[in-house]
Parts: sequence; structure tokens; C-alpha cells
Amino acid sequence: MSSTSKSILMSRSTTALFVLGLAAVTLARPSEKCMLKPESESVKDLLVELMKIESISGNEVCVGDAILDYLKTTGWIVKTQPLASNNERFNILATRKEVTGKGPKFIFNSHLDTVPPFIAPEKETDKITGRGANDAKGQLAAMIKAAEKLVKENPKIAAEIGLLFVVGEEVDHIGMQEANKLDLQPDYLIVGEPTELKFALLQKGVVKLTIKAHGKAAHSGYPQMGVNAIEKLLDILDDLRFHDWPSDDKLGNTTMNIGLLQGGQAMNALAAEAQASILFRVTTSVADIQGTVKKIVDGRADIKFLGSNEPVTLSEPPKGYPTDIVAYNTDLPYFENSDKLKAAFLFGPGSITSAHSMHEFIPIEELEKAVEVHVDLAKKMLA
Ligand SMILES: *[C@@H]1O[C@H](CO)[C@@H](O)[C@H](O)[C@H]1NC(C)=O
Repeated sequence: MSSTSKSILMSRSTTALFVLGLAAVTLARPSEKCMLKPESESVKDLLVELMKIESISGNEVCVGDAILDYLKTTGWIVKTQPLASNNERFNILATRKEVTGKGPKFIFNSHLDTVPPFIAPEKETDKITGRGANDAKGQLAAMIKAAEKLVKENPKIAAEIGLLFVVGEEVDHIGMQEANKLDLQPDYLIVGEPTELKFALLQKGVVKLTIKAHGKAAHSGYPQMGVNAIEKLLDILDDLRFHDWPSDDKLGNTTMNIGLLQGGQAMNALAAEAQASILFRVTTSVADIQGTVKKIVDGRADIKFLGSNEPVTLSEPPKGYPTDIVAYNTDLPYFENSDKLKAAFLFGPGSITSAHSMHEFIPIEELEKAVEVHVDLAKKMLA
């Protein structure tokens, strides 16, 4: 770790609070609502405790304080990294030994924030429901419990583990971007997201664009007097839809979604303008898809490329673990030292199909299995 990054890590010391007529009420502990019950022995109890604390993006301080306090009392060296743009919000890095040089060899990473709205946790016999159950407090709980297990079973390996929990993943990835300033250079990185306990081999990339066709307005009874932009656009969209987009047995299909259509003035007029907004999930490269779109449109309409990000190829897990392709964005492309990694994994309990929904849940069996997989993976990689 560079000298500049050292000053970025701070020991977060909560101001001791004194109340008139009483002794010290708290000694560097957060307020009770920002604490986890100390008896959070099992991974499911810990998850429920984490889920009780609302942490919608931008509001991660309370859950951050709770995790900080919990990890400190269980013997971890815990540092916080406030965001440069808002020093109330902070990332957490927990290790068993002081962070020096490249930092921990194996980083367990996930995010502290959730999407809105808050949904209180409920424990059922086989699952836990509520906001953050699988995106991503289930991952946080599994990583913490796995790290605790490693401390008991193999302290030498535990000494090489770093827990990096960041803010803002669901909105702008600002936490991971800030974390890059720490210049951590682990050999292994596992990013926790709901993958149904499968190891992702590819995180698809994204290309967003609009296509705008121009026509000439005219009375619909006299179409020879104008050009209908909607019809021009429909032809282009058909050409795009029936194109043979890249597909790969291992990396899956590039997919295209026409998500939004706008155009026209009235039923009895030829449309002067028409526009489609399109999002590709990319398996090859951003340039490949952009190039093909340009070729197909061939000057018939204006193309405007909006945001994009490249697909991320991940490492094969150890033998025996199932794999998959994921078509959603994560903090992975934002981790800058990924070229120095020996392996990167994207893995976690729970399913993306209920993440962000009103019925978000995590199967308890998957949550418990995820602890074992993290332990096993750390042992195999760091053996
Ligand atoms: C890829 O596309 C083909 C053809 O449309 C389809 O049969 C196949 O199921 C798709 N693969 C995946 C993984 O979605």
C-alpha cells in the first residue's frame, strides 16, 4: 500500500458520550439501533440483524457502524475509508493483521447498500425474506461467518483474508471507485452477488444507445408528400432484431432489448421523427456491438451511444462447483487492480430473480452453504 493510501484509512473512533449525572454511557460504541445483537451466532441470525438496519444507497452509515462494532469485538482490525465526496459515508476493510504492502491476499467483497424500499426481515422455516436478503446482506453475512470459521480452523489462512465492504454499488459504484485509492493488490477476489451458488464465468457487458429516424411530416391521405420516420425506424429495428448477434456456448448470448419507442405527431400525419432506446447485454466487446449497429443502420438514422461497460471474464472455480453467466452489473468492472489478480470470482447465495423485488428472499440452506464455499475456496486458493 502506498503512503498516500495509508492516510486514507482511518480508525473510526466514535466520540464517547457523556450525560450529565451519569458515567460514560458509551465507550466508542455506536447507538443501539446501529448495533448487531452480540448473540448473532449463526449466519441466519447475523443476516436478520443486518437486515433490520435500513441501508438504502446513500444511507449506509448505520449498518457500517454496526458491522464495524461487531467485527472489532470479534478481534478484527477494522479500518474505515470515508468517501472523498462525502466523508459521512464509508467503506470498511477488516483484516486479522495490519494492512501493509499489497494488503490481504484474498479479498471477500460485497456491498453495504440496498435498493429501496426498506422491507423488514422475516424468518420463515426455510428462508429469510426482506430487503437485502440476497442483495447483498446475505453475502455480507456469509463472508463474515466464513472469515470467523477460518479464524478458528486455520488462522494462517484467516490472516490473508480481507473483508472489503463498500457503499453505493446499487447506484454509481462510488464505494468501489473510492476503494481503488487503497491500491489493494490481492491475488484473489470474490465479489458477492446472488448467483444461486454458481460461479459466474462471465458478467455480460452493456451497450446503451438510441436510434433516431427523421422523416417529413405530411397529411396521411397524401403519403407521397412526405416520409414516415416511424416506418423508417421499424425497418431498421427489424434488421437489428433479425441479425445473428454473437452467441457462445460457454459465454452465452448477446441479447438486445428495445425498451422504449417514441415518435409521431398524430394518427393522421406522417411522423416527422421516431426514436428507439435499445440496451444490449454484451458477450464480446463494446466496440464489436457498436460497430455492428453502425453497419446495420448504415446512415439511415442517427445513432447516439449512451453508457457502456465491457463484459468481465471470471475465473473457473475449483472442480465440482457449478458455473453460470450473469447479465447484470456489479462492482467487478470498477476494481482497477483486476489485471493483477490470479483469480476473480463472482458468487453468492440467493437469486437475482427476486433481488430488487418486493418478495426478495434467500433460502437458508443456500446461505449456510455459501459460508462453507467461501471457507473451502479460501483454503484451496491459499493452500
Ligand atoms: C441462446 O440463444 C439460443 C437461440 O435463440 C437459445 O436457443 C438459447 O437457449 C440461448 N442460450 C441461453 C443461455 O440463453
